[in-house]
Order: sequence, then structure tokens, then C-alpha cells
Amino acid sequence: MSDTPGLGTPSMETPSMETPSMETPSMGTVYLVGAGPGDPELLTLKAHRLLRQCDALVYDSLVPKALLDLVPADCERHFVGKRRGHHSVPQPSTNAVLLELAGRRRCIVRLKGGDPFLFGRGGEEAAHLAARGVPVQVVPGVTAGIAAPAYAGIPVTHRRAGSSVTFVTGHEEIDKGRPGVDWRALARATDGLVIYMGLHNLRRIAEELLAGGLHADTPAAVIQQGTVQGQRELVAPLAQLADRVETAGFASPSIVVVGAVVALRVPSCAPEPANVEMPIPF
Ligand SMILES: C[S@@+](CC[C@H](N)C(=O)[O-])C[C@H]1O[C@@H](n2cnc3c(N)ncnc32)[C@H](O)[C@@H]1O
Repeated sequence: MSDTPGLGTPSMETPSMETPSMETPSMGTVYLVGAGPGDPELLTLKAHRLLRQCDALVYDSLVPKALLDLVPADCERHFVGKRRGHHSVPQPSTNAVLLELAGRRRCIVRLKGGDPFLFGRGGEEAAHLAARGVPVQVVPGVTAGIAAPAYAGIPVTHRRAGSSVTFVTGHEEIDKGRPGVDWRALARATDGLVIYMGLHNLRRIAEELLAGGLHADTPAAVIQQGTVQGQRELVAPLAQLADRVETAGFASPSIVVVGAVVALRVPSCAPEPANVEMPIPF
């Protein structure tokens, strides 16, 4: 293993190193709430309760409208996600919106797709708010990396497929201050991979995994718009995955699964995707 900092190693610059100040009692509470992967029935009871009672809502792109309709009519809403053809709202602007709302609202729901602490920048927002005296709580959600494969009948672990699974981002620019993912090392180190944001770089990722020792026939799958209307999936050997995905015109949001678990899928256990639309942000 390399001794360079990985995803789990905070650098001196990360917000988690900020010194917390005293909480200001008059501030509202910000709840970092996981919206789940899309199917509204996968929302947790806690998330549902908070959505029904919040007086401000700050939400992202991958949140179905059905959930936004749960908030009270007079709830103040702010969209901070990516619009088609545009860049995301910069993180400092989102932080500023949350801080400003905490100064004049009681219950602020910061709704994020899937789980807020899994590739969702929830940790950055929590640290930013906590350091400025804003009470903040995280409400975990069902992550797309488990739910989308499940809705295709793919278990992300299986005793016959080894003992480990790795959740990894395929997005190279997530934080330029850190080394990229060492796909060749991952090929040797884990039994299964669940890749978020991996579609754009799929060809290179597959090549690197093959160069790292994975067999060309390693089972792999892509699930687009998991758990909602328009869900579709493709299963192919790793060496053919990029070509097949390109030909079939797969788009974001998609989850990629690589490993023997794909061959152990039980299609008949997959639930029907919910009849709701997932906004496609990219
Ligand atoms: C910025 S990450 C956020 C992940 C989120 N925090 C979670 O726990 O699911 C966005 C990526 O998650 C994946 N994703 C989110 N929702 C999805 C869905 N319904 N179906 C397939 N992939 C999804 C895609 O890889 C997408 O590019």
C-alpha cells in the first residue's frame, strides 16, 4: 500500500481540522439528510419526519420531486445542484446559503441524494457549519451503490464472491490535491468494486483494472437510474463493458459493479423501480 494520503486521510487543509467554536443557541439546526437513491419508499422514517416539519430546504440534483412535495407549503426552498449544461453551485456558495438560513430558520433540511456522507460532501458541510457554531446533525440515507445493484438483483457482497467490497469514485477531479485512485492496486486488493460517477472514465478504469490483474471475463454491470423510472442495466465481461455501455448509450446517474457478485445476481428478487422521475443532471 502507498503511504500517500488516501481518501480516508485528512490533509491539514480539510474542514474537519477547523477548530469548533461555541454553538450559538439562537441558531437553527441544519440536518444533513440522505434522500436515498430515488425510490421515495426508500426514504428513512427520520428523513420523512424532518421533511414534513422543516422550514427551509436546500436540495441537490439527484432528489426526486416526490420528496420535495413532502415539505410544508410555506417552507423556503433553495436548489443548489447541477442544472443540465451548467456547473454545480460552488461548494462555498452552498455553505453560505446554509449558514445564512441557520441564522433565521429553526429547522433546515439539507437534502442530498443517497447517503450524505458517501461521495456527497456532507462531511465538508458538517465541518463548516459546526466550526461556525451551527448545530448540525446527519441523517444517513440508503446509498445508490447498494440500492441500484439491489434493484438489479445484485448483492454487493456474497460469501461465494469473497470477503470485501470497495466503494470508489470514478470521478478524477473530485479533489485535485490528492492522488487519483490506484485502480491497479484495487484490482488486487478487493473482491468487489462499486464505482460511483464512473461512466465517463469507464474505458480507462476497465483498462487499469485489467492491467492490475483482473481477468477479461470478470463479471461487471452498469445500472442507470437505479430504483426509479427508466432504470436499465447491462451485464458484460469487464473487457467488453466500455464498448457495450457506449453502444447502448448509458448515461449518468449510473453505478458500475465489478466482481463475482454480478454473476451471483438473482434477477427475480429485484423490486420494480418506483414510478417516479429522477432528474438527470448531467
Ligand atoms: C455525487 S455521487 C452521490 C452519491 C450519493 N451520496 C449516494 O450515497 O448514493 C452521485 C453518483 O451516485 C450515483 N447515483 C446516484 N443515484 C443513482 C441512481 N439512482 N442510480 C444509479 N446511480 C446513482 C451515480 O454514480 C452518480 O454519478
